[in-house]
Amino acid sequence: MKGKLPKQAAALLSGKAKVTTYETTGGKTISAFAAHNLALIPGGTKPGSTVHDNACGSGIVSRHILLQNASPSDNDITIYATDMDQTFLDKSENTNFSDGFFDYDMMNMAIIFMSSTGLDATREMYRTLKPGGFAVVNCWKAITWLLPIVLVHKAFRGGGGGEAKAPPVSWTDGKQLKEVLMQAGFEEGKMRMESHEVRTVVEDGDELRAWAEKTWAYLGGVFGDWCDGDEEKWDEEVDMLAGLLKTQPGSKVEGGKVTMTASQWVAVAEK
Ligand SMILES: C[S@@+](CC[C@H](N)C(=O)[O-])C[C@H]1O[C@@H](n2cnc3c(N)ncnc32)[C@H](O)[C@@H]1O
Repeated sequence: MKGKLPKQAAALLSGKAKVTTYETTGGKTISAFAAHNLALIPGGTKPGSTVHDNACGSGIVSRHILLQNASPSDNDITIYATDMDQTFLDKSENTNFSDGFFDYDMMNMAIIFMSSTGLDATREMYRTLKPGGFAVVNCWKAITWLLPIVLVHKAFRGGGGGEAKAPPVSWTDGKQLKEVLMQAGFEEGKMRMESHEVRTVVEDGDELRAWAEKTWAYLGGVFGDWCDGDEEKWDEEVDMLAGLLKTQPGSKVEGGKVTMTASQWVAVAEK
């Protein structure tokens, strides 16, 4: 049964704190993915273009575009940032943009959350792109901290909090990403796909624990429901998570630092 948000998580997720919590943990990896993926666009985002920062969250992709196009002549790029979260109210699967509106549509780490296993969203991307425009879409391949989150969920919540949640289809081998783009109309011959890995390095000890606490606050209610016991057992849960983060196949402890890897599949598809 779904319990209330623990006070420790609420403190890390209310208002602007949510953005900081996200951007100092998994959001850092997602930001590195965005920078990498923007560089895959042939010729880069061209001056005068119109870009969709699709399911933009806190605007990481938009900020990277602005950083990469800092010269005055490049500043005429127009970015539309949309999200289902209250600040940006358009939904990615059904927008008001006209056909062929965008030169680029960047959907950074959001496709796995979309309904119809991503098909409505990719169809909408295809519809709103100009011919010759590019969609850049990615999904997780492997995340060091995912299994630890699920293990803490199972260890502390028993049957409460439900089964660990997973997307209805697996995206980890990249096949679903390719298929859903092709179903939406993108052609295999005009699509480039690759995987790419990012490392998160934190000091072992207090920094790792703080990282684990923020990550538990952000994801503890995503891959399972919060339970009433979570508030009372918060410190034990965070300690367990911090410990597990050091022993995963994707992690390494060396010289007092903990390195955790996370990888993506990214597709750059031309309409
Ligand atoms: C992991 S975040 C990625 C955010 C952002 N693209 C970035 O690079 O940081 C996933 C985002 O997808 C958004 N989202 C999920 N489902 C959506 C939908 N159906 N329509 C629009 N946004 C959606 C969430 O609100 C969240 O901001």
